Amino acid sequence: MPSTSLELGPTAASIRLAVEPGPEALGRRVAALLLGALRDRARGLCQRPLGLATGRTMDPVYAALRDHLAALPAAERSELLAHWHSFNLDEYVGLGPADPRSFAATMAAAVGEPLGLAPAQLCLPDGLAADPEAEAQRYGAAIAAAGGLGLQLLGLGSNGHVGFNEPPCGPEAPCRCVELAPATRRQNAAGFGGDPAAVPRWAISLGLAEILQAEELLLVVSGGAKAEILRRTLLEPPTADVPASWLQRHPRLRVMADAEAAAELSRRS
Ligand code: GLP
Repeated sequence: MPSTSLELGPTAASIRLAVEPGPEALGRRVAALLLGALRDRARGLCQRPLGLATGRTMDPVYAALRDHLAALPAAERSELLAHWHSFNLDEYVGLGPADPRSFAATMAAAVGEPLGLAPAQLCLPDGLAADPEAEAQRYGAAIAAAGGLGLQLLGLGSNGHVGFNEPPCGPEAPCRCVELAPATRRQNAAGFGGDPAAVPRWAISLGLAEILQAEELLLVVSGGAKAEILRRTLLEPPTADVPASWLQRHPRLRVMADAEAAAELSRRS
């Protein structure tokens, strides 16, 4: 299916929408963009760090990124990896990198260990910090000190969250400690033995403020279960009830979806 451009009226001039047949093809396409962002950093065209995300949607993305990197000549690969610097969106409060359910462990397994990145290259909020609110402020300040984020990768929660910005959430929300919505704890229960009550109640998340200040946003969505929330995110006026809808305000928003997730968009566009 070819890429299409979706016109959105007064809230945003246009959003670039690319649709791929399924999650694997989607992962390859998104990974190719991440590789481009790594090349820009290595060539000095972009100084800002990458913004990265976790979630099941991202599994095929990181798998494809590992494949793309493995296919490069060794010298080029090391050059790109030497310039890797990223900040993840969020982390559960109470989980550290030694816990396989933490996002830190997920990122270490997906890219840190296989690509041989140093811990300082792959930044996440510290879920074990004694004062999570202070840690959120430290993390937001670290991103500001790095000059803000370059390309920010984003998944979409089934309730319209990005990062862990749960509804209701306005566009000014900063990096902070957030209480997870029951829908989110249900959505993420698979990683916790299927029990929503076992999912931590709190998380540290970048806010929409930092996300909207990134140079470019890349929202990645797969599966029919997200078709309706993706439609509301992109085609209805921005509202605190769908935090991801504020992304429409960004001048450089790209959306990459598989055919099932995009079903409600193509019907309208
Ligand atoms: C999670 C994360 C988000 C993620 C989203 C979608 O809770 N905090 O950053 O993008 O929800 O997750 P999934 O890709 O598993 O559907």
